[in-house]
Amino acid sequence: MKTGLACIGLTTLDVVARAIDALPEGEGTTLIEGIACAPAGTAAGTALVAAKLGMPVKLASAVGDDLIGRFIRMALDEAGVDLTALETLPGLPSSTTVLAVDSAGRRPNFHALGAGILAQVTPEALAAARSVGFFHYAGIGGPRLDGGPGAGIVQAAREAGAIVTCDLISPQATALDELKRLLPFVDYFMPSAAEALFLTGREDLFAAADVFRELGAGGCIIKNGSRGSVVVLDGVRTTLPAYLIKPVDTTSCGDSYCAGFIAALDRGWAPLEAVRFATATAALVAQGLATLGKLESFEATETAMCQMTLRETA
Ligand SMILES: Nc1ncnc2c1ncn2[C@@H]1O[C@H](COP(=O)(O)OP(=O)(O)OP(=O)(O)O)[C@@H](O)[C@H]1O
Ligand SMILES: [Mg+2]
Repeated sequence: MKTGLACIGLTTLDVVARAIDALPEGEGTTLIEGIACAPAGTAAGTALVAAKLGMPVKLASAVGDDLIGRFIRMALDEAGVDLTALETLPGLPSSTTVLAVDSAGRRPNFHALGAGILAQVTPEALAAARSVGFFHYAGIGGPRLDGGPGAGIVQAAREAGAIVTCDLISPQATALDELKRLLPFVDYFMPSAAEALFLTGREDLFAAADVFRELGAGGCIIKNGSRGSVVVLDGVRTTLPAYLIKPVDTTSCGDSYCAGFIAALDRGWAPLEAVRFATATAALVAQGLATLGKLESFEATETAMCQMTLRETA
């Protein structure tokens, strides 16, 4: 049986600062609690978290030929992520986000576009997709993937035997056309609540999940922040609550949730148990700064999953 995970799509560097409740006047300086930076984005963030959870991971994406790109490479390499399919695009900066997290956990942010959205189906990416047990598609909206190539690599991964998961980042209305191409090859579609409602025009998350399943998704798991998750699978139609935590920084909760779900499935867990593990993964990530937060390992997450308290209602 094939093992490991390949992710394709967006790679960024997140620079997270907390707590910023107001900008200093003029050119003033304010001392704050902390600043952290880490590889992030729907592909690289999920890849980094899955590697931390012990999976062999390959990343197909792009960085620029700048210091930030080299830093992203170094951090992913240290985490054990296979970067054979990570391109360095000459003359471009790396995609970077600065997030100013306030004391209430809100995270207004500033993004500079760069190479990170230019992931493409290279021979290395295709080989990675065909070699793994799980393929995570996080490339919707990518100019080199939309319109056919993205669906092609997803189909290739599926035909080679991978379980396919799919997540979104800031989708435009046109993402629905892309989803029509992709979802027939997707086993678990995992959008956020806001994305699901925006794309389907529905007012209810179960109704939105039904739309995605009608478009071909095997299952639909909708991430709903502190309200937990909506899960619609064959024979399953339920909500699962989030954990009761004091969030420090919810940056990358969605990406880490996907990684946790995949890592638990990889260990043979049933999908609903994997959703619980995903929820615990995101809860640990939310309790520290940046992509990994307080996440340590699969085993530590499993322990925390049993010790943390679930919120009352989903
Ligand atoms: N405040 C919170 N308290 C507890 N759990 C949380 C909180 N925020 C997020 N989570 C957990 O993280 C999961 C994913 O978060 P969210 O729904 O915000 O995803 P997302 O919008 O895709 O995030 P991202 O902005 O990272 O893409 C939730 O389903 C929940 O389990
Ligand atoms: Mg998300």
